[in-house]
Amino acid sequence: MTLALPPGFRFSAATSAFQIEGSRGADGGGRSIWDDFLEPPGAIIDGSTADPACDSYRHPESDVALAAGLGLDRYRFSIPWARIQPEGRGHANVAALDHYSRLVDLLLDAAVTPFPTLYHWEMPSAVEADGGWLNRDTAARFSEYAALVAARLGDRVSHWYTLNEPAMTTLQGYATGALAPGRQLLFGALPTVHHQLLAHAGAAEALRTAGAEQVGLLNNHTWVRPLRDTDEDRTAAHVYDMIHNRIFSEPLLDGVYPDIESLGLPAMPVQADDMARIRGSIDFYGINFYNPTTVTAAEAAGPIPFDIVPTPGAPVTGFGPEWPIVPGALRDLLIDLKRRHPDLPPVIIGENGASFPEPERSGPVDDQNRIDYLAGHLAAVADAIDAGVAVEEYTVWSLLDNWEWADGYTQRFGLVHVDFETGERTPKASYGWYRNLIARHHGED
Ligand code: NOJ
Repeated sequence: MTLALPPGFRFSAATSAFQIEGSRGADGGGRSIWDDFLEPPGAIIDGSTADPACDSYRHPESDVALAAGLGLDRYRFSIPWARIQPEGRGHANVAALDHYSRLVDLLLDAAVTPFPTLYHWEMPSAVEADGGWLNRDTAARFSEYAALVAARLGDRVSHWYTLNEPAMTTLQGYATGALAPGRQLLFGALPTVHHQLLAHAGAAEALRTAGAEQVGLLNNHTWVRPLRDTDEDRTAAHVYDMIHNRIFSEPLLDGVYPDIESLGLPAMPVQADDMARIRGSIDFYGINFYNPTTVTAAEAAGPIPFDIVPTPGAPVTGFGPEWPIVPGALRDLLIDLKRRHPDLPPVIIGENGASFPEPERSGPVDDQNRIDYLAGHLAAVADAIDAGVAVEEYTVWSLLDNWEWADGYTQRFGLVHVDFETGERTPKASYGWYRNLIARHHGED
């Protein structure tokens, strides 16, 4: 497959610490909200604990070899706050910093640029006990943590993601409780939006002080469509777009929140200077994209005015109708974002990928369905670039099959198959496909 991607376009693949590392609590690391969330029986669909997952904490060199084997320009991994600051404040845990310093060196030796994420959902339990993202002080604590990591790695790392998918933290972590910390506050979760954006802004300041060249966060955007062409469904789509997408994009890109008061919701807890700090805080606009969302007016009376429904006519991934496959939705979303924000900074796609039912034990995996998914979305990126959107990088989720949060080991997203009983890693057909695509793009064949 040849794609009309511009010269200099970068390719990456991603993982996150809790999903691959295992060795929970090793080297004096502290507890996180995910250690707490997974404990009650029934919390995780298959009863698993994220240990050993891919055992990556003990064997980082095998992940680096797989990243290098793909010819990746960059590798996205995460550093867990609770390992670095077990109590969420105070001095850094040197043993854990040593570990990530070694990972950075392994990547650099393999000619892959390290691109760490500072928060991939693992808040120290001690910070959550003080209110977590509901507490404005958490933003300042996060900036201190960012400064500690930058002080150790900033001589070799110059590209950083601060937060991964703050919308999921707000909507599923604090509003519905599907993810840690499992709070069910519905619209009471909204202050977590502002406190996360403030945390990002403070961390960006700390990282730049330490010499960072490129700082951003990753918003998981979805392309929202009404089920029917009726006023009720269009209103439902408008509300969903506002609380899932625009409440995170507009403060970063325009320095203002969308008018959530018009929906009868309380205003954000904004203080003087907050919006100016948030607006100036990104060097690129990071997007994680998986699927569009079709909504209709809520059937039941209650506080939530929309229902999410299957997208008519769309094929689905291993998650079923929840995750429809519509690659063109990524093109439409990117073009729409540029239309709404003509000064949009360069865009980085920080995650895109799909899970499909695949064998648990090692063996060849001919995942043509994943190749089709990835190729379709890369073609959508190429179309958006043609239409004038400056997309500079694309990242596959995920390098490895891993622990999919509350879905445990039941959803496999990897370019590489992992047998969770033996730890054996087997590149799937999609790994070879991605490697060849990268090599062709870089003129290596
Ligand atoms: C979003 C998250 O960033 C990642 O942790 C998760 O595994 C994938 N998307 C797939 O759900």
